[in-house]
Amino acid sequence: MALRSKKLKPLLFPIILAILFIGVVAFGIRADSPGTDTTEPRQEQSSHKTKHAKEKPAFDKSRYSIDEADSIWVVVNKSRPLNPITYAPNDLMSAGNGQLMRRAAVAALQEMFKAAATEGLNLQPLSGYRSYDTQQTVYSREVATYGQAVADTQSAKPGHSEHQTGLGIDIGGGGCGIEDCFGNTAEGKWVATNGHTYGFIIRYPEGKEAVTGYRYEPWHLRYVGKALAAEMKRTNTVTLEEFFSL
Ligand code: DAL
Ligand code: ZN
Repeated sequence: MALRSKKLKPLLFPIILAILFIGVVAFGIRADSPGTDTTEPRQEQSSHKTKHAKEKPAFDKSRYSIDEADSIWVVVNKSRPLNPITYAPNDLMSAGNGQLMRRAAVAALQEMFKAAATEGLNLQPLSGYRSYDTQQTVYSREVATYGQAVADTQSAKPGHSEHQTGLGIDIGGGGCGIEDCFGNTAEGKWVATNGHTYGFIIRYPEGKEAVTGYRYEPWHLRYVGKALAAEMKRTNTVTLEEFFSL
């Protein structure tokens, strides 16, 4: 026995090396062969990563028109009248309280009001869609009451109002209607914080009078859809003019 093990001893090291080598090679082949492993082939893994990256593409600012009157991204202001100037939406619906808005905006408004109600906050629609003629009446009344210079800081000429798009609405709550106090109510603060979740922005924010052309209106909401509202929030851009570099 002693003689046998002495003869085998010098062979032991190369044998172990050979076994290790075979093992490594066999493992390598197995790891490369498709179909025998549960791990994804390298090609698929990288394309999976590409697919994942494609799920969150850069925000496409040209996805919807900002010029067409019936686009949810339409930008209307003193220098961007509606086209045609007497535009009227064809999908107006009741937003409650005798007010109308476009279908998508009504659904979003109701969703938002319901969410606010679960927190004990009571919001009301006060002034939604206004036709060209109604806006003419509103504007003329403002001019008669305050003079044109002041009127122009808080009322749009007909054909230039978001109310005519069916996507704008003045709301109230917390004992305050279409007045500055709305911004200080729990309801007004909740809307300013959470409105974007439902696709709404405060269209005339405080401190942006030179950009929007209008004084701060905490009660005037504009429906732009959830994607745009979320992107504006994410990029901390509060006006449509700045977001679209107008
Ligand atoms: N108050 C806003 C500017 C409007 O009249 O449309
Ligand atoms: Zn308004």
